Amino acid sequence: MYVKNRLTESLNIDFPLIMAPMFLVTNLAMMQQGMACGVAAAFPTLNYRTDQELRNVLDELNKLKTKITKGNYGVNLIVQRSNPYYEKHLQICVEKKVPFYITSLGNPAKVIEQAHAYGAKVFCDVTNMEHAQKCYHLGCDGFIAVGQGAGGHAGPFPLHVLVPALKNKFPDKITIAAGGIATGSSIVSAMVLGAEGVSVGTRFIACTEAKVSVEYKNAIVNANMTDIVLTEKISGTPCTIINTPYAKKIGYKQNWIERLLSTNKRTKKWFKMLVQLRGFKNLEASILPASYKTLWCAGQSVEHINDILPCTKIIDRLKTETAVALKNINAANS
Ligand SMILES: Cc1cc2nc3c(=O)[nH]c(=O)nc-3n(C[C@H](O)[C@H](O)[C@H](O)COP(=O)(O)O)c2cc1C
Repeated sequence: MYVKNRLTESLNIDFPLIMAPMFLVTNLAMMQQGMACGVAAAFPTLNYRTDQELRNVLDELNKLKTKITKGNYGVNLIVQRSNPYYEKHLQICVEKKVPFYITSLGNPAKVIEQAHAYGAKVFCDVTNMEHAQKCYHLGCDGFIAVGQGAGGHAGPFPLHVLVPALKNKFPDKITIAAGGIATGSSIVSAMVLGAEGVSVGTRFIACTEAKVSVEYKNAIVNANMTDIVLTEKISGTPCTIINTPYAKKIGYKQNWIERLLSTNKRTKKWFKMLVQLRGFKNLEASILPASYKTLWCAGQSVEHINDILPCTKIIDRLKTETAVALKNINAANS
């Protein structure tokens, strides 16, 4: 299936899908498969611990880009002061001329300025209109509307409200829907709402190329939407996870001291860094085989995920289902 719109044109892809950046999950093989299928794929720069590793991966992706006619890649930068790698990673990405950026959490001004200087695109994760307004004024190219039930830092609003609100207020910007999308019919529904594309995360955890434990992948396949809960224990910001016995045991809320330290002006930055470091270590431990400390990040779309497949098969199926869903709408209305 081939779609032509503002997003596909601006990213040179043939289907309006972004394989969403996932901390500790997205890897080079997944990115390469996505690009070869003509879609866009993004990874968090934090998945690479050394500058050289990051540089090597960007070299590989740039090499692949010269060999394909459609398909593209981008990086995700957590643009928060509590991310100690932010400045260095941005510098490397600019040096390697990364084609597009997805920013999350903080102020994306620097990324927008430096990316635009060489013609790259910047899409900002937004969960509400206030943050979207700030990104708009800074000159972003579009928004990733992160809705309720998304994997990771889910937003408070359903896509049915957030996407049309962004389209109405900022019609000159591209809007990409994220959260709960794992089937072709949900892609069509996002496009009907006015999104020019979708960003899909959780579906790709259950892919053969991901190097997470088979227990994590099976948990994605076996979980239902009711198994997904929000926890503050990973990064301080509410994050969706599968409600495993370990998650229940440690609880979902920060205690009062943690909350105090994360809001106090003087301690905020350092405390957030500590919480994130501890949370990331927990996440890292739990994606390894036979870990009992299971903090498995996933969104409500687990409801629709029933198999572990290669990325190419997942993407092919999403394209086919999208074509079928479109046909069904037309048939139902004729
Ligand atoms: C395991 C996992 C890790 C994620 N890590 C990041 C991340 O590092 N940075 C980010 O901006 N978003 C992250 N996300 C959010 C995704 O980029 C995307 O917005 C989300 O997965 C879309 O919702 P879905 O999972 O329902 O498809 C993560 C999501 C998951 C499931």
